[in-house]
Amino acid sequence: MTDKTDNKENQMWGGRFSSGPAAIMEEINASIDIDQRLWREDIAGSKAHAAMLADVGIISDDDNQKIQAGLDQIAGELERGEFQFSKALEDIHMNIEARLKEIAGEPAGRLHTARSRNDQVAVDFRLWTRGACNDAQQALNELMRTLAEKAKLYADTVMPGFTHLQTAQPVTFGHHLLAYVEMFSRDAKRFQNAYARMNESPLGAAALAGTSFPIDRHATATALGFEKPCANSLDAVSSRDFALETLSAAAITATHLSRLAEELVLWASPHFGFVRLSDAFSTGSSIMPQKRNPDAAELVRAKAGRIIASLNNLFIVMKGLPLAYSKDMQEDKAATFEGMDALSLGLAAMAGMIGDLEADKEAMKQAAGRGYSTATDLADWLVRTLNMPFRDAHHVTGAAVAHAEKLGLPLDQLTLSDLQKIEPKITQDVYAVLSVEASVASRTSHGGTAPDNVRQEADKWLSLLNRDNA
Ligand code: ARG
Repeated sequence: MTDKTDNKENQMWGGRFSSGPAAIMEEINASIDIDQRLWREDIAGSKAHAAMLADVGIISDDDNQKIQAGLDQIAGELERGEFQFSKALEDIHMNIEARLKEIAGEPAGRLHTARSRNDQVAVDFRLWTRGACNDAQQALNELMRTLAEKAKLYADTVMPGFTHLQTAQPVTFGHHLLAYVEMFSRDAKRFQNAYARMNESPLGAAALAGTSFPIDRHATATALGFEKPCANSLDAVSSRDFALETLSAAAITATHLSRLAEELVLWASPHFGFVRLSDAFSTGSSIMPQKRNPDAAELVRAKAGRIIASLNNLFIVMKGLPLAYSKDMQEDKAATFEGMDALSLGLAAMAGMIGDLEADKEAMKQAAGRGYSTATDLADWLVRTLNMPFRDAHHVTGAAVAHAEKLGLPLDQLTLSDLQKIEPKITQDVYAVLSVEASVASRTSHGGTAPDNVRQEADKWLSLLNRDNA
């Protein structure tokens, strides 16, 4: 015999049922543990709906007042943590409605007129996701501000720029940090766009077909801060692309966070020794006293897995569902909450790490000079000064690098006569471009790494971000 719950007559649909659900049915069916955090949105949606029902004369003003007062009381109970959640009542919508019945009596039963849980959950979840997009944008702005401040501080700090993780050309640390500001600014835009696209209200779509009651969907849309009601009732209750889009933006952001986290892990390792992460964002080892582990960076890198998985999770839930609502969609919230929670944590931890980070300018400079990173500068000088075709200049420079390598010297320590043995027209002037500082200072092209560019860009971002914040 299957275990049954004693929840014999579900008060929401008990009419048609003669027995309660199996215990395991209650377990698989209930979402209250997850969706209780939608309570604010649920109460806001119900208040807007009841007020509209009264305005158009579907319920009396007296009933509306009792509903509004009851919902306010429930909000207080939830806020203070006094609300008793019941698994038998399945989800946040039925938990709140059942409590409203206890408080307000018969009028509570009128709240669900011209509404279904399908449009109710759709509106609640849109409201929540809309808020999450705002939060993500704010956290991104905070991170960008922190990065831009550091970029300004380290505008002329020279470090090796890499391709294939091989020393390529010197860059400034500020320029490197501002590269992430660009990425994060596009991420913030993606959340802003997702918000704008989802900003239509599903409320009043009812179960799937709309309703025969003369409701005013524009009024509830406006009351809840939506631009307008969704135009198609089937779409309104079936679509979760707003959550997919938000999680996509989150997954891309997480990818950027993870790449930066990976760089922090590398830079903080003694082999690079470029940066020092603060104690506040590092851990020690219980056995190896010398260690300072970049755990926060590693966890930000790993959270990307969780966030990308959340997107994947929701794609897989949604992809085979016929219109309109299917209970599969109840799983949308666990995925979205998990992904967005991990993102908030990752953004906050990254802002903390970057804010505290200190660069070892000397170590960065030393590394920048290793690996013949100014070879391109030599080639450019040959082109510019001797009017040599770049391909030939590349060849001459290759020979100079090979010679320097044989002697175990950096390029700028080859003697002029050594250089002239390779190319007789080379003059003393060449030494001005062979240092890493000269190299970065010369990269003044639009978007280049020169310290002056970096200072300008950092200032541009800081004034933009501070204005957005005002
Ligand atoms: N808890 C459900 C969800 O999150 C609410 C909608 C239920 N609708 C239904 N027809 N069973 O999706």
